[in-house]
Amino acid sequence: MTQNDDVKKPWGGRFNVPTARVVEEFTASINFDREFYAEDIAGSLAHARMLGRQGIISEADVKAIVSGLQRIRQEIEAGQFNFSLALEDIHMNIEHRLGELIGAETAGRLHTGRSRNDQVALDLRLFLRRRLRRVSGLLLDLIAALVGQAESNLDVVMPGFTHLQQAQPVLFSHHMMAYVEMFKRDYERLQEVLRRLNISPLGSGALAGTSFPLDREMVACELGMDGITANSLDAVSDRDSALEALFALSLIMIHLSRICEELILWSTVQFDFISLSDSFCTGSSIMPQKKNPDVPELIRGKSGRVVGSLVSLLVLMKSLPLAYNKDMQEDKEPLLDALTTVSGSLQIMADLIKEMAVKPAKMYSQAGAGFSTATEVADYLVRKGLPFRIAHEIVGSVVAYCEKQNKSLIDLTISEWRNFSPLVEDDLFVLLNPEDAVEAKDLPGGTASAQVKRQIERIRSFLVQAEKTGGGDEANN
Ligand code: ARG
Repeated sequence: MTQNDDVKKPWGGRFNVPTARVVEEFTASINFDREFYAEDIAGSLAHARMLGRQGIISEADVKAIVSGLQRIRQEIEAGQFNFSLALEDIHMNIEHRLGELIGAETAGRLHTGRSRNDQVALDLRLFLRRRLRRVSGLLLDLIAALVGQAESNLDVVMPGFTHLQQAQPVLFSHHMMAYVEMFKRDYERLQEVLRRLNISPLGSGALAGTSFPLDREMVACELGMDGITANSLDAVSDRDSALEALFALSLIMIHLSRICEELILWSTVQFDFISLSDSFCTGSSIMPQKKNPDVPELIRGKSGRVVGSLVSLLVLMKSLPLAYNKDMQEDKEPLLDALTTVSGSLQIMADLIKEMAVKPAKMYSQAGAGFSTATEVADYLVRKGLPFRIAHEIVGSVVAYCEKQNKSLIDLTISEWRNFSPLVEDDLFVLLNPEDAVEAKDLPGGTASAQVKRQIERIRSFLVQAEKTGGGDEANN
């Protein structure tokens, strides 16, 4: 980063005194908005070509501007570009360099009919488009990893919980597929956000539109956007897409934090349901036996950070008068941080899930504990004619009896059962196995293996379809 005192500000015309150094440092955004360089150049290329086509600038100027911008892109990518703090942001850094390369006069024609306000609004949308497509692809990878675990452990029975108390047995695959549903919704939400943001604000000028005969549609089309914004004031001061993106990213982190929490619990000696790969855990410097689930813990922790970014942008936008306000420059850091955090978390999570070892025997041994098949007995009595509430009451007293006797439901003899209800016959006993309880839930959305299998098939075709439509293809922009 250079601190070039002599650099001429593109807006310097009406100023008599140079900007104070502290003010330059305080107001500059180049340290973070340089991330938008590719989008800024793409937007300028489209704008310049359109200006030429409309006869607003000469074709010779267009040619010089295009080759200058392409050269700048190479310089930045080769790490040879001299970013200057005095030039504030990525827009003015690039414009200034363009002047050095092709002459200030020609370079000075690029900004015709454009303001940094519609320029930054465009850059933000294009940048979000690229990064959200990447997040979408990572979501698909994570979904595939979860489906893989569900498929290879299809019939593993585990306890299902409510209130973190043993509730009813479920299939481990059903549990994995619950997360698949959440991440699938997250994926779909991102496609919605992407659809809404892919609209070009260019041509809105500083706030009022522009008096030049721009072809806004042409620019949008060249940038692969689906249309143009309808109101210039809104277009330059709207940060809805960033907010929607941050909400979608926050929800991804919330879902991640829930599965992380479970993985952490499941790898304790008390649960011992899974074992995380050594390559994803760390040890303790004092306790030789420790294997800590750092990765899920960190993801759980990072979820707070992404939610923080969402809240900070919400508060930033609250009560801002129309149209552009410098406050809005503060939109970028939370967004960049959230995108990096979510991408990193999704990527590592997919690998961690793939390498996680499941412990079926341990899960099964716990699946029948805690009277987890008591509801099956109540349902059984209902099928024999009792109203559910009475059946519930009866089985409740059976459980209390078992607790006193230190027995489980499966230990009771038929005559013990008959003391509670004469309706009980030998056919009750098959219901007391966790696997039978699971198979009984054979309706759409239930945990029976046939239902889970069907759901896995549906998700497999969803994945094929999503990959085909390029939902996760970063290059596809
Ligand atoms: N760096 C500025 C931002 O990110 C670009 C827009 C500047 N516009 C202005 N009127 N000062 O918001």
